[in-house]
Amino acid sequence: MSGEVVERVLRSARYRDVDPAMLARMAAEEQPRARNIDDAVKRVKRRLHQAVGAFRGSERADAMSAAWDGDLGDPTFRSACIDVLRAHASTRERLAALDAFYPPIWAVTGLPHSVLDLACGLNPVTLPWMGLPADAMYVASDVDGRPLRAVEAFLELVGQPHRVEARDLVADLPGDRADVAFLFKLVTTLDRQDPDAADRLVAALRVRYAVVSFPVRSLAGRGRGMERTYRARLERLASGPRVREVVEVPVPGELLAVMTLDG
Ligand SMILES: C[S@@+](CC[C@H](N)C(=O)[O-])C[C@H]1O[C@@H](n2cnc3c(N)ncnc32)[C@H](O)[C@@H]1O
Repeated sequence: MSGEVVERVLRSARYRDVDPAMLARMAAEEQPRARNIDDAVKRVKRRLHQAVGAFRGSERADAMSAAWDGDLGDPTFRSACIDVLRAHASTRERLAALDAFYPPIWAVTGLPHSVLDLACGLNPVTLPWMGLPADAMYVASDVDGRPLRAVEAFLELVGQPHRVEARDLVADLPGDRADVAFLFKLVTTLDRQDPDAADRLVAALRVRYAVVSFPVRSLAGRGRGMERTYRARLERLASGPRVREVVEVPVPGELLAVMTLDG
């Protein structure tokens, strides 16, 4: 029965590019709670809307390739990247302060020679603002094939060594070694799918630094309550067995911390 649920979800234009392994997991989880197949399909779609709903529409990858002349600092190329980054709510929220985003992170970790960008969305397209070495390895993964296509085209275009892959981080932990892993706005997404997934992920990472962020758009009103909740979640994550040190890094719009991991 869960095969039929997956098949029907894949028929919808919005979800046909989602990692089938994640669809199968969600279908199996929803099946026992559902009244019938229609209800199971509806439940899986509702969960998918929460999990991958932040990506909207076209990636404008063609404009990036037309603007590329070999220089990551070129203003025309950067403006084409910004157009692409707008297609995902998470990176759109990061745009206003992109220049100020990476330097304070590298001040804690040093400039990495390898990066794991987990549940990356379109974030790898912020590479022009990262200042990574040209030979740094960039491994990007997500469950949504639509942003992954733009990310693959982008990394190929600029010639950054890379691997781009579909990975459901609830069920399939990454084995790559790297200097730094980005877990940007990921913990809340995973918590909704499995409350232990984020802690399991941090415990399994083969990296020196895990950079974790939560979306805190505004410090006024509701933002304050959100920030308190996320800060408490961060503290729980930081109490995991592998976390040796936690440094909070002030960046606009996100509660962000660098965790140094053991081993
Ligand atoms: C809030 S967005 C953050 C995107 C990116 N990290 C950023 O900050 O720009 C959450 C991302 O998690 C991905 N996602 C959702 N569930 C996932 C899962 N189980 N495994 C891996 N990625 C997942 C979504 O497709 C989406 O791109």
